[in-house]
Amino acid sequence: MKKLIPAYVRVPVLFFIIFGAIEYFIDSGDRAAFIKYPIIDVVLLVVLVLLIAVEMVISAADNIVYQLLPEEEKARLAAEELLPVKESAWFKNLMNKLTRTVPIENESRLLLNHDYDGIKELDNNLPPWWVYSFYACIVFAAIYLVRFEILGADNQEMELKKELAQAKIDVEAYMKNAPDLMDEKTVTLLTDPAALAQGKEIFTTNCAACHRADAGGQIGPNLTDDHWILGGGIKNVFHTITNGGRDGKGMVSWKTNGMKPKDIQKVASYVLSLRGSNPKDAKAPDGELWVEEASASAVK
Ligand code: HEC
Repeated sequence: MKKLIPAYVRVPVLFFIIFGAIEYFIDSGDRAAFIKYPIIDVVLLVVLVLLIAVEMVISAADNIVYQLLPEEEKARLAAEELLPVKESAWFKNLMNKLTRTVPIENESRLLLNHDYDGIKELDNNLPPWWVYSFYACIVFAAIYLVRFEILGADNQEMELKKELAQAKIDVEAYMKNAPDLMDEKTVTLLTDPAALAQGKEIFTTNCAACHRADAGGQIGPNLTDDHWILGGGIKNVFHTITNGGRDGKGMVSWKTNGMKPKDIQKVASYVLSLRGSNPKDAKAPDGELWVEEASASAVK
């Protein structure tokens, strides 16, 4: 075994198995555990030092034992060292345990005493690797039968359905808390008064200068009528505020100006809540009449 996998392979492999296990079992969110918890680095370092120490002790002990052996034993071991893996005693031993084959020279002991026109039959042992795999299959089948057919555990299809349903819930929760991911495809019209009040505040601070405090329009168009240059409805309005108007018209991209998608959603919803508010001396309608139903999904 030692010859097959030398220490300089054994140590790193063991180390990475332990490392992987730590990463797998310790829940550290989106960052690797060894970055999030520095104590793990210390543990890993200790593990590495221990692994190397164990290797050194074993090889030292081996050396001592070797030195104490009588000469002919030394010679035998040295000869074995030179043998290829397949010839080594431990490999032969392992193969014998797995197959329990009878050497060809002893085959006559297995011979059954029938003979079909010269075809003879041997009574070989079933190889243990096969027998134990077979037993393992029987145990597996019994557990499987009880679990799925009697206790009614979820089959793969049910598991998939449940996971998909859970994933949908997770995605929704994630989208709620990750406003930066919102775009004109996923944006929804807000109607709750608190959000609209915040939208109004954003509008008064950033937009009133051009669109007037009542959104009746000044440099920028009237935002309270049913006519839109760049398309009405939450998706288009969100898109316009995010990316700005046509070049050179004065409506900038508010995303570039650092406005968060969630705030853009609020101010867009506020703007749309002003529809039909008919402010005094409003600017004449610009653009085309926007009919929500017909073009609800059309993003210009
Ligand atoms: C510097 C002046 C200016 C500011 C500030 C400004 N806008 Fe505009 N806005 C304009 C102009 C000009 C247009 C017309 C753009 C075009 O014709 O392409 C416009 C267009 C729009 C439109 C599209 C109107 C349509 O008919 O399609 C919306 C919606 C809008 N602005 C919302 C806002 C919001 C919300 C803010 C504040 C976050 C804001 N604007 C700030 C000048 C401004």
